Amino acid sequence: MINKGIILAGGTGSRMSPLTKAVNKQLLPIYDKPLIFYPLSILMLSKIKDILIIVNKGQLDQYKKLIPNGKNLGINLSFIEQNSPRGLPEAFILGEKFIGKDNVALILGDNFFYGQGLTSVLLKSKKIKKGAKIILHKVLNPELYGVAKINSKNKIIGIKEKPKENYSNYAVTGLYYFDNKVIEYSKKLKLSKRNELEITDLLKKYLKKKQIKYELLGRGGAWLDTGSIEDFYKTSNFVASIENRQGLKIACIEEIALKNKWIKKRNIENAIKFYGNCEYSKYLKKIISL
Ligand code: DAU
Repeated sequence: MINKGIILAGGTGSRMSPLTKAVNKQLLPIYDKPLIFYPLSILMLSKIKDILIIVNKGQLDQYKKLIPNGKNLGINLSFIEQNSPRGLPEAFILGEKFIGKDNVALILGDNFFYGQGLTSVLLKSKKIKKGAKIILHKVLNPELYGVAKINSKNKIIGIKEKPKENYSNYAVTGLYYFDNKVIEYSKKLKLSKRNELEITDLLKKYLKKKQIKYELLGRGGAWLDTGSIEDFYKTSNFVASIENRQGLKIACIEEIALKNKWIKKRNIENAIKFYGNCEYSKYLKKIISL
């Protein structure tokens, strides 16, 4: 069972410059809230309470202004700075103390998940005791992602990062579950040609030991990666259509905390004071008036 999660929310965001020159990408808006709320809500929906957010060097203050501490959300939140974007597996090296002797989930700060059956996939995935688990989603443009090849017996038989040739349409989403060996394996990784530690190299170590499994986020689910400005607009439109149709918010972190019974109405009132007079606060008011 996994009860600890890391959100990797650094990176240069170079594809989105000049927007990301002064502000971290994960603090930019996806419709009505900062991007970081979405991966944070995924860990909270997974009932993961111990959360480490890894941010860029020098950007800690930006995050602390937004989420000063986890108490009001009923979670144990800590932050660490990453000196430079040396690759995704660095999360496990920087997070060694946080992870301790436990297993851990990793979600990339720019990944957006939504859809029917999502929570059950999350709760099922965190049950792993040994090995690794990844979440796959079928896409039309696999060359942009890490991909996994599946055989007729539903086993992963290969993993490649951004394949140029036609290899597999199953993208490896940015949500991973690992046993404690992940720290040791990450430390042993070598830098790739682009001078980074590669998550696919880490996953291949588990594949070699036949210790990697997957869950499929099926047709009823949406996985969007917000790497470019275009993606930000598309994802914002997606969130707006759903929220404005249903009157329910996606990734309202206080609502999830209340539903998980981690906080009381009093905490929602604190949040309303903190955010001030805005649409998000109006939504929070509605929740506690029900
Ligand atoms: O989104 C899923 C994909 O994420 C996977 O399919 C790929 O296998 C995986 O390599 C990764 O690909 P990207 O090209 O999208 O990774 P990117 O370098 O854009 O980083 C993803 C997020 O992690 C982004 O929010 C920035 C953050 N990051 C990245 C690096 C390399 C860090 O915080 N630190 C880092 O060192």
